[in-house]
Amino acid sequence: MKIQSICCIGAGYVGGPTMAVIAKKCPDIKVTVVDLNEARIAAWNDEDVSKIPVYEPGLSDVVAEARGRNLFFSTDVDKAIDEAEMIFISVNTPTKTYGEGKGQAADLKWIELCARQIARVAKGDKIVVEKSTLPVRTASTLKDILENTGNGMNFQILSNPEFLAEGTAVEDLMAPDRVLIGGDQTEEGLKAIDALVNVYARWVPKERILTTNVWSSELSKLTANAFLAQRVSSINSLSELCEHTEADVNEVSRAIGTDSRIGPKFLKASVGFGGSCFQKDILNLVYISRSYGLNEVADYWEQVIIMNDYQKKRFSNKIIKNLYNTVSGKKIAFLGWAFKKDTNDTRESAAIYVADHLLNEQSKVSVYDPKVTEQQIYSDLDYLGSRAPEENKDSLLVVDDPYEVCKGAHAVAVLTEWDEFKTYDWQKIYDNMLKPAHVFDGRNIMDKKALRDIGFKVHAIGTADDN
Ligand code: UDX
Ligand code: UDX
Repeated sequence: MKIQSICCIGAGYVGGPTMAVIAKKCPDIKVTVVDLNEARIAAWNDEDVSKIPVYEPGLSDVVAEARGRNLFFSTDVDKAIDEAEMIFISVNTPTKTYGEGKGQAADLKWIELCARQIARVAKGDKIVVEKSTLPVRTASTLKDILENTGNGMNFQILSNPEFLAEGTAVEDLMAPDRVLIGGDQTEEGLKAIDALVNVYARWVPKERILTTNVWSSELSKLTANAFLAQRVSSINSLSELCEHTEADVNEVSRAIGTDSRIGPKFLKASVGFGGSCFQKDILNLVYISRSYGLNEVADYWEQVIIMNDYQKKRFSNKIIKNLYNTVSGKKIAFLGWAFKKDTNDTRESAAIYVADHLLNEQSKVSVYDPKVTEQQIYSDLDYLGSRAPEENKDSLLVVDDPYEVCKGAHAVAVLTEWDEFKTYDWQKIYDNMLKPAHVFDGRNIMDKKALRDIGFKVHAIGTADDN
């Protein structure tokens, strides 16, 4: 079966870039991305392609090439569903904030709504593809809704989890390590799998397209994220030991990473991992394990989150301790707010929690991030709910110049690993700060020796503090 028309529900960080790349690589397939959020769709359609709502290196070029040709962004969900042979569901699946499973389970409210809408609108057979990360066995829920509320059409459900990382989304989509497609192992199911394989096979070598049953695919996505996060928590746990033993965590990472069985990636000690996926997916894994009574399995994975929360807290405490145990009234400048470099995404960013902790200690925090808006920063803090929005506005200042943000500060804290931070004139920053001037490097990116030569006291994750 050759697919000619695809629709994707959800024009977010995953749906937008994924569909843009499919449209680029398959000019003969009509790709329509729909979203309930009108402002978001308007931004995707902005004539000035630099204004699209997701910042990813290379993405605006891909959108500029395909948009209007075979890539469309729209709020008319019904029409797009009706026209498409294959429908991707890429809506958000946040951690539940209420009821059973609160704080751990995924909220599948939006997924269910999508399924009901597809069932209602579909006038022909459709292949429905789960793109959002979902708990294992969600496909059976989807199938149930589609079959029981539909107009008698046939639906095949595939799981095709996304492995792109933000900041490198376009690169990851153009040359993925692998594409994973799970589906029913029936004749119809295998046909549906084949249809999606043929879409990716336009640019991904066949041996990199893995097919499995639908449950393996769903669980593999959660597992992949849990393993990646676990590596970060593992190295972060050792970073504290390094700070006490004069071992240097960067050297330890390099030393163990050259063992080909361990490998060098995801061994960078940091202030803690963030992003929309790691925490959510592990909490989900924990919840599912517990729901089957597998408490040891659940506890094992939960520890990855506990360590990550501890690391964020530990970083703020490091700042407080080194500023003579009080930051009350002291200005602390943040370089970076995004959860990693090359993205404007701030979901679960460590910076939010570090700021919150310091604000609780009555510090004056000022923030510069090259891509995150002032409005986003306040909304992240307000969402935590520790203080009234007016109070957040009073104690945290967003500044759009990196030198200005550091002026008069007691300390600079590096929260995101943006490359540009390394190229600044650090002598100039030092000259304008209060003394002793401290740098707290939460990302291990700065040249410690160069900073010490200027006169800074340097405190990096995983090396002993300067006195
Ligand atoms: C995705 C996946 O959905 C999530 O499971 C994965 O773990 C992370 O990536 P992402 O694209 O990052 O989420 O989310 P977001 O940027 O919030 O985009 C989701 C979009 O879906 C939003 O624009 C929202 O308006 C839209 N949406 C949501 C709908 O169009 N309809 C709905 O019913 C719900
Ligand atoms: C992750 C997965 O990598 C991706 O496959 C999946 O589709 C979505 O979730 P993402 O969250 O976009 O991607 O970014 P990732 O590069 O994995 O980084 C996650 C967090 O871990 C970031 O905060 C990053 O700074 C942190 N990290 C990563 C470290 O602290 N140290 C590392 O060595 C690597």
